[in-house]
Amino acid sequence: MTRKITLIPGDGIGPEITEAAKQVCQQAAVKGRLNIDFEAHYAGGAAIDRIGIPLPEATLTACMQSDAVLLGAVGGPAWDAVEPQLRPEKAILGLRKALGLYANLRPIRVYPSLVEHSPLKPEVVAGVDMVIVRELNGGIYYGERLEGTIVNGIEEARDTECYSDSEISRIVSMACKVARQRRGQITSVDKANVLATSRLWRRTAEKTAQRFADISLQHLYVDNCAMQLVLAPNQFDVIVTSNLFGDILSDEAAVLTGSIGMLPSASIGDGPGLYEPIHGSAPDIAGKGIANPLGTILSAAMLFRHSLDAVAIADCIEAAVARVLEDGYRTADLYKKGLTQVSTEEMGRLVTERL
Ligand code: IPM
Ligand code: MG
Repeated sequence: MTRKITLIPGDGIGPEITEAAKQVCQQAAVKGRLNIDFEAHYAGGAAIDRIGIPLPEATLTACMQSDAVLLGAVGGPAWDAVEPQLRPEKAILGLRKALGLYANLRPIRVYPSLVEHSPLKPEVVAGVDMVIVRELNGGIYYGERLEGTIVNGIEEARDTECYSDSEISRIVSMACKVARQRRGQITSVDKANVLATSRLWRRTAEKTAQRFADISLQHLYVDNCAMQLVLAPNQFDVIVTSNLFGDILSDEAAVLTGSIGMLPSASIGDGPGLYEPIHGSAPDIAGKGIANPLGTILSAAMLFRHSLDAVAIADCIEAAVARVLEDGYRTADLYKKGLTQVSTEEMGRLVTERL
């Protein structure tokens, strides 16, 4: 049986990093005796330029009919002026919704060989190993929006945050299951001192976690969590939070690892999953061959683990990435004197050689 992967290179550095990841995947699949087939499709700015919309029907259909989707990044200043409904980001938001990808897993691991690259003190970041479980199908991202309205000569805009108890218990259950495979500790993050959705979140998290006797649950306000992430990040095992808070906290947590270019993510629902690095399209360095492909390569590892049930292949890719770093190879974002600087493509090849 051949497993189908839809490849969406997207914009900016997207094509470069997904090409490197594709090479790694193909070699890893050969080693693991798994037949995989990539089919590339347009989304984001690349689709706006060619087809006129960010998420063409053909791309959506291909994603729905595949086992998993590997995405680079979308967006860039070239499309800043398009109307809100046509923004490149709509491709990602549309895919998350259409595929029912309600859970976004963002593992944050500080590799021993990268401890020195973090802007935080080595003793603060050494050993950090956490997962942010971000709700991905609801909240303010998908609530009612009002834009471009003039009330008594004054322009107003409105975004709405809405959560139901079933959406909350679904994501908290997922976080509990993730925590079970780890250290069994969950931190639920909200703003329950101010927001109604957060008070529902906290109550529902409490109720849901009671079904998991082996899990310990604590609550933190999001402002405090933002502070704790840089003060004492080692306290966290699994963080579960809303769509918006998860977006913000995961960029903050990424800094711990030395480069946002290292961070993978998995978006999962009941059908095909979507895998992408958490960084953006980095238009300033696009086309130069200097982008870090490791976030995408590690996303591909998550794809093998979660969507293809190929745990051994996932482990093999992750071990190869760790070895490349130990051997002193770095892309520009992580380069320091005494190490070997390599291009995006070379980095892909170095990982492939170590599979
Ligand atoms: C992310 C990104 C997206 C988000 C953007 C591109 C819409 O920042 O995946 O974290 O806000 O979810
Ligand atoms: Mg983000």
